[in-house]
Formats: sequence, structure tokens, C-alpha cells
Amino acid sequence: MEISENISLQALHSFGCNEKASYFTKIDSVEAIEKSIQWAKEKNTPYLILGSGSNILFTKPFEGLVLKMEIMGIKKLKETASEVFLEVGAGENWHYFVIYCVQKGWGGIENLSLIPGTVGAAPIQNIGAYGVEAKDCIELVTAYDTQTSQFITLNNADCKFGYRTSLFKMEKTRYIISSVQFILQKQPIFRTEYGAIKEVLHQKNNKQPSVEAIANAVIQIRTEKLPDPKKIGNAGSFFKNPTITKDFYEVLIAKYPKLIAYPITDDIYKIAAGWLIEACGWKGIQKGNVGCYEKQSLVIVHYNNGPGIEIYNFSEEIIQSVLKQFDILLEREVIIY
Ligand code: EPU
Repeated sequence: MEISENISLQALHSFGCNEKASYFTKIDSVEAIEKSIQWAKEKNTPYLILGSGSNILFTKPFEGLVLKMEIMGIKKLKETASEVFLEVGAGENWHYFVIYCVQKGWGGIENLSLIPGTVGAAPIQNIGAYGVEAKDCIELVTAYDTQTSQFITLNNADCKFGYRTSLFKMEKTRYIISSVQFILQKQPIFRTEYGAIKEVLHQKNNKQPSVEAIANAVIQIRTEKLPDPKKIGNAGSFFKNPTITKDFYEVLIAKYPKLIAYPITDDIYKIAAGWLIEACGWKGIQKGNVGCYEKQSLVIVHYNNGPGIEIYNFSEEIIQSVLKQFDILLEREVIIY
């Protein structure tokens, strides 16, 4: 185990802020997880796992050990007439894994093409897009429980998946995911109800969608609408879409007939946070090194080499203005350190 000291986190997270970590190590095996955590415990220093750092904002130096997850490998465990069971190392790139499945014609995660991040990070915030969430295809998650110093295997229900959340997000640093088992479908049911997917498939005259056609449509939509973290610092949606009661929804829709909202249950509506932020005038606004992305207000972008706290403060201004205008408290989706 090699530990470096006082390293820059700039290239290790997609916001690219120049904060530092006291200690840094790479993890490429399950043994390395145990050794690194033991090291951190002996030194009585906090630790943090980074995949590709695409959903995290550092607002100050991290005074502890950063562990970069690099456990690799895609292993077929079982194949039946209709399903394929795969075990994937937590350090594998998510999009690479999606394309691996798409090329084999295995369905289930094609709607999640081009989401930045690693396979091990996917269950943490239960990544989701265009009507599909990672939880829909996850069978088991193997993780190191730092409280009991044991590896455990959690089934789908154990993971307590919700909208952009899970047990792993709720218990922040307790579990370190080493691998994830997925079930993919050989005769998939396609999820094409999302408006933009329908439109792209229609434009391409694609009457019989395939796993590949959907993946290509999603790649096109995301490329057009979301900033590429390799070119401009960002972490995708910065906020979650909030939920409100039906009664409150009725008050709002009467006042703002263009409000975008979807019923989740008979009593609960999910509101498009991007619409709320845009309605408060933030779309395309830049202040110093930070801005609200001009094509999607849910995304905060980092234009120059500013400190993380500037991004945090900008997000706080957005939260306060949405609260003032709509009486809705936005919650950050990005993990803040
Ligand atoms: N909208 C606006 N103004 C904006 C942004 C959006 O009016 O600035 C409207 C859109 O026109 C649309 C509605 O809000 O009618 C929803 O927008 P969109 O389809 O872009 O989806 P979203 O709710 O803003 C969520 C996810 C995205 C995911 C898309 C597609 C969250 C927090 N975000 O965004 O996930 O790609 O749906 O399924 O749930 C991410 O998590 O990083 C991410 C990009």
C-alpha cells in the first residue's frame, strides 16, 4: 500500500477545484480496502472513497485519507435463456460498462448511457435517467463494512434504494462498495416513454428500437443538453427534484400555470427543479468562476480555477432564491465535503 501526502484533488473530481488531501492511496483489490481502512483507523484520520469524483464538491482541504477506487473487472456469473448475471468491479467506468452490455445486446441500463462515474458509485446515489434507475438492474452489492471490519453482501432490498439515495448514501462512510452484481435482459422491455427519447427515435425513423438505438439516442440527448465534465467543471444535476403535497401543488399551479410537475402518488408531486431555478432567473447566469448552465439550470458549472466554496455559495444563493419565490427548499444532490 502506497500512501502519498498532501496531494491536489483537482484532477480527481469533475468540478476540478484545487483543494488538497492530506493522504491519498489507490485501491485495486479487496485486500487493499482492508489495509487502507486499518491504516486510517490506526492514524485516527477520516477517510473518503472516490470513484471518478463526478458527484462531489470539495469546499475545503480534506484532512484525511482519500482512497481512489480502482477495483476492475466484468465477470459473467451465469446466463439463462432470458438473463445474464454480471459481477462488476467498483472501479470500472460506468459508461464503459453500459457500452459493454449494449454491444452484446443485453438490455436494462441503456437509458443510463453516458452518466459520468464508476460502477461502485452507481448504487450510492442510485443513478437514474429517462425513466430508469440503477436499482432496476442491481441484484447484489458487495461492500466492506468499516464498523464490523467484514465484507458483506446486500440484496436489492437491503440497499434501501430511493430517488438519488441508498443505504450507502445515508450511512456516508460506513460501507465501501467493492463490486456490484447486475441482471441484464436478453429480451429487454424498452423504456422509450421519455419525450426526448421518443423524439430522437422518431427523427431517426427507428420504429423497432434496439438496446443500441436507445443508447445512441440517450448519448445524443445528453451531449446536446449537458456540459461535458472533461471540458467544463460540473457534477451533473446539482439539486434533486423536490416533492410537494398535492394541496401545495394546486396552489402553485394556479399561480404558475407553466410549472412542470409530475404526480408520484395520489398526494405527492415531483417538481422540475430546473424549471424553478430558471423561473427565478438563474439560467445562464455567471458570477465569478461559477455559473448556472445555459441549457439546463439544474447544473452548476465551474468555468475557471475557483475555490469550491465559491460553488457552494452560488448554490446557496439559488436555494435561497427558490425558497423565497416558491417556498420550496431545494436539496443538493451533490455530496459536499
Ligand atoms: N426544465 C426547465 N428548465 C431547465 C431545466 C429543465 O424548464 O433549466 C424542464 C424541462 O423542460 C423538462 C423538465 O424541467 O420539462 C425536466 O427536465 P429534464 O428532462 O432535463 O430532467 P431533470 O428533471 O431536470 C433529471 C435528472 C437528470 C436526468 C434527467 C433525465 C435529477 C436531479 N436529475 O433531470 O440526471 O438526466 O432527469 O431523466 O433527477 C444527474 O443526476 O446528474 C442528471 C443529469
